[in-house]
Amino acid sequence: MNHNFPDDFIWGAATASFQIEGAAYGFGKLPSIWDTFSHTPGNVANGDTGDFACDHYNRFVQDIAIMKELGIKAYRFSISWPRVMKDAKNTPNPQGIEFYKNLTDELIKNDIKPVATLYHWDLPQILQDEGGWANKKTAEYFVNFADLMFRELDGRVYQWITFNEPSVFIFLGNLDGVHAPGMKDIWTSAKCVHNVLWAHGSAVKIFREKGYKGQIGITLNLAPYEPASSEINDVMAASTGDAQWNRLFLDPIFKGTYPEIIMNNPEFRKVLGTLDSHEMEVISEKIDFLGINYYFRNVVKYSQKGKLGFESVKMDGEKTYFGWEVYPQGLYDILRYIKENYGNIPLYITENGATYDDILTSDRKIHDVQRISYLKRHFEKALRAIQDGINLKGYYVWSLLDNFEWAEGYSKRFGLVYIDYNTFERIPKDSFLWYKKVIEENTFEV
Ligand code: BGC
Repeated sequence: MNHNFPDDFIWGAATASFQIEGAAYGFGKLPSIWDTFSHTPGNVANGDTGDFACDHYNRFVQDIAIMKELGIKAYRFSISWPRVMKDAKNTPNPQGIEFYKNLTDELIKNDIKPVATLYHWDLPQILQDEGGWANKKTAEYFVNFADLMFRELDGRVYQWITFNEPSVFIFLGNLDGVHAPGMKDIWTSAKCVHNVLWAHGSAVKIFREKGYKGQIGITLNLAPYEPASSEINDVMAASTGDAQWNRLFLDPIFKGTYPEIIMNNPEFRKVLGTLDSHEMEVISEKIDFLGINYYFRNVVKYSQKGKLGFESVKMDGEKTYFGWEVYPQGLYDILRYIKENYGNIPLYITENGATYDDILTSDRKIHDVQRISYLKRHFEKALRAIQDGINLKGYYVWSLLDNFEWAEGYSKRFGLVYIDYNTFERIPKDSFLWYKKVIEENTFEV
């Protein structure tokens, strides 16, 4: 079988500001909700914080040299809102903006396309103090921030991504309380959903109106939802899971409506039931591409313990170090699902990767054969999707570097490059060398 990817296929790698930058204090930067959350005892494994992370803020030139060595065509990073605005609302912080100008200049110099995510979860704390995403004003301030960055980096950024995984930061942060800001309230979550989507659409609108260069889209965390049995309750549970985690974001963006199943929930109906059609029009402003982050599928069953009437079922079989099921077929299935339900929009896998118990050998190598096997099997499914006519344009491995893995701190390593957190030494893993060859040859051996 031919394993060649299209000539213009974009191989990349992804990171996020809070997870790698460090330099959390000083430089005119405001604290973010993740600074507050990680400094609150009990929230993050081993009490880890993002204070230093990978020290990328001071080492970005070295990191770009590593990217060049890897051969990636594009690099997906995120911009720290608390770093680039002095008050999070209107006033720019020139020192913060300078960092992203230097970063993008260095990328371009090395022939790597900058792909910038505006929001990868590090909300300025002062906005959380005023209600966070449940407050509509936050969406207005987000548009100011977006417009500032569009203007300052105009012509440098190849693609803009408004938000990374709204479902995850909204539900893990505001309903399950395991991520910042650590709330557990369904009404707050419902408010956040609409305000975040409105912020997304409004940013797209201003991007178009002001004629900025480049493309714009959004990244969603998507996965197939499958019933644990053919019992009608479990089948319904799978539809509800799909509605909460996939369609709650896809439907408004592509169709300007919210899924009916969600509207049947009283809290969501209270918030979403009285919306004016103008806002839905803004939310469904046309995007140029959709970013998909895929890690695992979800098999669910009916359960009254779950806040929306379902819960996930643990599957037997191969798992990553996180305990996540390894299920490459799910990548194919979700790509097909998008094409069938939302049309043939250009798609990018903006994240896919895995954490394993990487062992640094005495000669300072990491033989991460499991990660190579994981990636290879997912690449295979991506290629199959392209061969079946799905409009997949690129693939970003998560992550370039080991980094701050949210509530898991530094205990989970996703990188192609190992970080020694005592010295900040960067050590390319075997998966880095394997991926380099894939990119060079635009194909892989099975
Ligand atoms: C997020 C990343 C995260 C990765 C692995 C995604 O949900 O966008 O920031 O590190 O998954 O958990």
